[in-house]
Amino acid sequence: MAAKTTADSASIRAGAARGVLAVTHQNRTIDWILEHRPQWVSHTESTALLYGTLRHLFYLRNTVATFLHKPFRDKDLDLYSLLLVGAYQLLWSDKPVHAIINETVSAASKLRKPWAKGLINAVLRRLAEVADSLNYPDQTFDHPPWLLQTLQQDYPHQWQQLAMANNTQAPMVLRVNLNQNTRQEYATLLTQHGIAHQLGVSEQAIVLEQPLPSHQLPGWQQGKVAVQDMGAQYAATVLHNTLQQHATAQATQNGQLLRVLDACAAPGGKLAHFLELCSARPTQSNSHIETIAIDISQPRIDATQGIFARLGHHQGIQRGDACQLDWWDRQPFDYVLMDAPCSGTGTIRRHPDIKVLLSADAISSHSATQLSMLHNLWQTLAPGGTLLYCTCSLLQAENDAVISRFLETNNKHANVQQIQLPSGFATRHGWQLLPTESHTDGFYYALLHKQ
Ligand SMILES: C[S@@+](CC[C@H](N)C(=O)[O-])C[C@H]1O[C@@H](n2cnc3c(N)ncnc32)[C@H](O)[C@@H]1O
Repeated sequence: MAAKTTADSASIRAGAARGVLAVTHQNRTIDWILEHRPQWVSHTESTALLYGTLRHLFYLRNTVATFLHKPFRDKDLDLYSLLLVGAYQLLWSDKPVHAIINETVSAASKLRKPWAKGLINAVLRRLAEVADSLNYPDQTFDHPPWLLQTLQQDYPHQWQQLAMANNTQAPMVLRVNLNQNTRQEYATLLTQHGIAHQLGVSEQAIVLEQPLPSHQLPGWQQGKVAVQDMGAQYAATVLHNTLQQHATAQATQNGQLLRVLDACAAPGGKLAHFLELCSARPTQSNSHIETIAIDISQPRIDATQGIFARLGHHQGIQRGDACQLDWWDRQPFDYVLMDAPCSGTGTIRRHPDIKVLLSADAISSHSATQLSMLHNLWQTLAPGGTLLYCTCSLLQAENDAVISRFLETNNKHANVQQIQLPSGFATRHGWQLLPTESHTDGFYYALLHKQ
């Protein structure tokens, strides 16, 4: 029985090592692994090892290098990845050292390289001997140098806290589906199921004390709840509040049609939230709200249809490129949500692979796309309409800088509207949420009114 346990533990480590290799040397994301190689992460421990190793990859690489006489050959990078997984566990877990070393050594056989057992054993033993004298994690921020420099430049007083926050585990936040229940009703249901939680700052949010697989949440299949970061939940709230205010201020005619576009809609989290708010809180003038959703990615559109079906939303989503206008029926929109494709640097806690896969060049390319998309979508907005620009990025290049460049050519028609959210801070043109505060990821919002 004990031998079987070691064998299983070895498979868990080998799976995590294969995952680390796929990210570091094959340009794969963790999401790709979860979808296409679920066998590597079928155990919660292998998932935890994969995330943990990637979170601390930069420190682990440097530390392990001091015990190696020469780098691994390309064909043995799976062993190198295994060594990193073992080193991560030695430095960041409470598991007994002998168990970690034995199981990691056995995993070399799972990778069909039993000849490397001696090497893995020797390196991990030497690391274990010096572990107490290492100053991790204070010694490093575990970010690629270019990203750390950019954070330092954008947040001269906060970059260290941000980098440290990026290396923590994000909370699991739920959004209660108002079409099905109130937040209080769902919180009661969680209590009845013994799931510890607290109410979030944003109105439909509940923060779980411990993450758990979403299908284990009560009422999941019936669509009572969705998983959505609290920072992301402000998008629908801001859009819906703006719509309510305008409908009231402009004395919108009773039953008037308001058209709303979600231009980068998949997987539909913000749109679903918006639909829930619209049906739970109709405008005073009972405006009829028509929502059009597009996204460029067919697989993501397909996934969104399933999510909407679970939540009970009868909302279509069509394939379209938000940098083009061929999908547009030429009827202007009163509200546009542009949840831009971006670096995701505000979500590094949930996606530590971003630190490995992202490059400085990708940031310039993202901001060019964001600007071009913004110019394009602006044409679809009716005079008097409002566009909400958002990213899950911490970087100014994708946030205020994009809005500044947009305003340089559109200042006669575009007017920045102030936003204020419960955490984060006002920027030149919008509002920045940070992963250091109030259970939110890093998010940026800017609200533009068309004159
Ligand atoms: C940040 S995600 C959107 C998340 C979504 N709004 C939600 O709340 O669930 C960005 C989306 O933009 C889509 N996208 C990227 N480039 C696009 C383009 N040129 N036109 C339309 N969608 C695009 C991606 O496929 C991705 O689904």
